Amino acid sequence: MNKKTLEITLEEYYAVSELQEIEKSLVLSAKNAAVKAYAPYSKFKVGCAVLLDNGSIVTGNNQENMAYPSGLCAERVALFSAISLHPDKKIISLAVVSANKELNKNDVFSPCGACRQVMLEYEQKQKSPIIVLMQQADKKIIKFHSASMLLPFSFQISTLQKKE
Ligand code: THU
Repeated sequence: MNKKTLEITLEEYYAVSELQEIEKSLVLSAKNAAVKAYAPYSKFKVGCAVLLDNGSIVTGNNQENMAYPSGLCAERVALFSAISLHPDKKIISLAVVSANKELNKNDVFSPCGACRQVMLEYEQKQKSPIIVLMQQADKKIIKFHSASMLLPFSFQISTLQKKE
């Protein structure tokens, strides 16, 4: 038996002013997108802003549906939109923000597993890391330097591509 430990690294920022200019505007764009979310069932509004290597920022927010599983998270709305509009561009970073102020004091908003899987796929496809910033309401901002930090020991595209 061999025991291994995987490590993840993150940074915490206590004010938007601590971020670089481009990351500030990315967080702000995600916040503005969150306000426009369609979340009549959960009332939990999320916004996401994706920065591409041509400088464009594509935003999205969660879209719910009366047939619950038909809805989609903000991150996937934004990512699918960004890559469908700009299939040849690389994703530099993304910010995801929950507008919900009513979570418990120690709760931190963090993307769901399915959205992490989608971020990771684009990261592997473009062969360069995607910076992920997240914030809940006006609380601290958490920054990861790669989507892979959010999904350790993940399924890899290369596993599918291996030939016998
Ligand atoms: N949601 C997101 O938009 N992103 C996440 O990472 C987690 C959850 C949305 C889905 C649903 O509309 C609402 O938040 C409650 O789960």
